[in-house]
Amino acid sequence: MDLKSFRQSIDKDLEAALIAHLGQDSQDSLLASMRYSLENGGKRLRPSLLLATLASFGYDYHLGLAPACAVEYIHTYSLIHDDLPAMDDDDYRRGQLTNHKKFDEATAILAGDALLTLAFEVLSQNQDDIDPQLKLELVQLLAQAAGKSGMVDGQVMDMASEEKHLTIEELKNLHGKKTGALIHFAIMSAALIMGLDQEAQDALERYAQHFGIAYQIQNDLQEVMWTDEERGKKSHGDQDSDKNTYPSLLGKEGALAALASERQACQVALDNLSSQERNFDPQLLTDFLNYLSMDYGKG
Ligand code: IPE
Ligand code: IPE
Ligand code: MG
Ligand code: MG
Repeated sequence: MDLKSFRQSIDKDLEAALIAHLGQDSQDSLLASMRYSLENGGKRLRPSLLLATLASFGYDYHLGLAPACAVEYIHTYSLIHDDLPAMDDDDYRRGQLTNHKKFDEATAILAGDALLTLAFEVLSQNQDDIDPQLKLELVQLLAQAAGKSGMVDGQVMDMASEEKHLTIEELKNLHGKKTGALIHFAIMSAALIMGLDQEAQDALERYAQHFGIAYQIQNDLQEVMWTDEERGKKSHGDQDSDKNTYPSLLGKEGALAALASERQACQVALDNLSSQERNFDPQLLTDFLNYLSMDYGKG
């Protein structure tokens, strides 16, 4: 099955599951703020990677719906906080007002807090088809990906690096945490659910690591190559140029070459996996490499 058909088969279930955990109360402004960012056009990369990894080994994707929702909640909270005045100070995301502009800063902070907490509530709740020990390991994997050793640390490094010039190795480490950690969770949580052997886990991990770096390089290239309309954001000029990014360190051509090389490394990891695992169908994870092309997701 190709990725387009796969997305068609999972999207309804995924959207329904994402909303079901939130409940409904039209008077609740916190809920309105959470739903605003959850439902305004995210590409759902991380949850679909998770479900596709399961399907690639012949597993039923429904097994991964709870961690898929959890990682999308964390991602959504990370974007709400990332846009706040104290961080990137952005007014637009996905072509619409950022959460704190649509609501207010306090509500945006609290909506982020609530999404973060909800992720762990959903991941740890009773679900007959996941063993309790496995659930604990998933909770731990998500905590590591989201927190001090993962995404939050990457965001701290991103903020601190505005004052200094990083080497490419330092920048790769930053991207690996800021953006890579949640992508790593998406793929490796599926590996954990399936109980894959070490060799298969290692190959999937290499795919995840290179994918994470490539995804952030592509995000930063969009800033220099796309119009504001295509990005659904407004450039901040000087403020953006203080950030260490692949384009700012290597120039546009250098960043494009680095993107191609990370993408190629993903392909090598998939080839390894295909040669090891008879049960693995590489089609879906190969199709995901299109998400790393400079035309993907143009608004
Ligand atoms: C944006 O991620 C921020 C990064 C970590 C690169 P996405 O581009 O996956 O965000 P949405 O949810 O699809 O808007
Ligand atoms: C966002 O990184 C990463 C996280 C929210 C963890 P950026 O600040 O580079 O992404 P955009 O450009 O705002 O989407
Ligand atoms: Mg940022
Ligand atoms: Mg930002």
